[in-house]
Amino acid sequence: MERLDKIIASQGKYSRSEVKKLVKAGLVTLNGSVVRSSDVKCDADTDEIAVDGKVLGYKKHIYIMLNKPKGVVSATEDASQKTVIDLVPKEMKRQGLFPAGRLDSDTTGFVLITDDGDFAHRILSPKNHIMKTYHATLLKELTEADIAAFKEGLTLGDGTKCLEAHVRMLPDRGCVAEVIICEGKYHQVKRMFASLGNRVVELRRVKMGELWLDESLPEGCCRELTAQEVELVNKQMPKA
Ligand code: URA
Repeated sequence: MERLDKIIASQGKYSRSEVKKLVKAGLVTLNGSVVRSSDVKCDADTDEIAVDGKVLGYKKHIYIMLNKPKGVVSATEDASQKTVIDLVPKEMKRQGLFPAGRLDSDTTGFVLITDDGDFAHRILSPKNHIMKTYHATLLKELTEADIAAFKEGLTLGDGTKCLEAHVRMLPDRGCVAEVIICEGKYHQVKRMFASLGNRVVELRRVKMGELWLDESLPEGCCRELTAQEVELVNKQMPKA
C-alpha cells in the first residue's frame, strides 16, 4: 500500500503538487469514488485510480527503445551535449530514467532506457550472457584468423581480456561485420578490432538479447516496449 499522490506522480505525467491540486478539485477517483485527501493509501496493482476521468493504467516500470543518433551522449545529464534522456518524449518521462548500457556519442542504434535498476543490472551483467549485437563498418575485411581470435577471447591493447565473442562479415553489405558480445567494456567493439590492426568506421547496435532494433523507428525517436519485447531483451541467444 502506498500514498495515492506518490503512485500518480510516479507515472510521470503529474508532479506531487499537481496531484494535490487535482485531488482538491475533486478530479481524482479511487475505485469510482472521489478522493478527498491525497495521502490516502492504496494498492497500485489492484485499485482503480482515475485522474480527470482517465484510468491511470499504472506501470511499476517503463522500458523504452531509443534509436540513438550520433552526437548524443548516453548519460542522464550533460552540461554541454544532448543526452539520450533529452530524447524521451514527455509522455514517457518519469523520475529515475537512465540508459541501460552506454553507446559512444558517435555510435547509433538501440539504447534501452528504463527506471528498473534490477532489470538493467540483469541484462548488463556478463554473467547472464545477454548478447548485444552490433553492425560495425570496418576499414578492412576480417580474416579467418581474426574470426578465430574473437571466438577464443581477444586481449585488448591494455591487456584487458575479453570473453568469447562472435563475429562474421555480413553478406552483400560491403565491409560490415556483425559482432555479438555479452560484455560492455569501455569502447569495447572499437578496441576489439583495433587489437587486430583494424578500425571501426561506423558502429550501430542492432539487437539486445533477442530483441532487434525496430528499424521503422526514426533516428532520435523512442517507443515503449511491450511486455513480450522486454522478455526478449532478457533472453539468452539460443546455442548454435
Ligand atoms: N563498443 C564500442 O566501442 N562503442 C560503443 O558505443 C559500444 C560498444
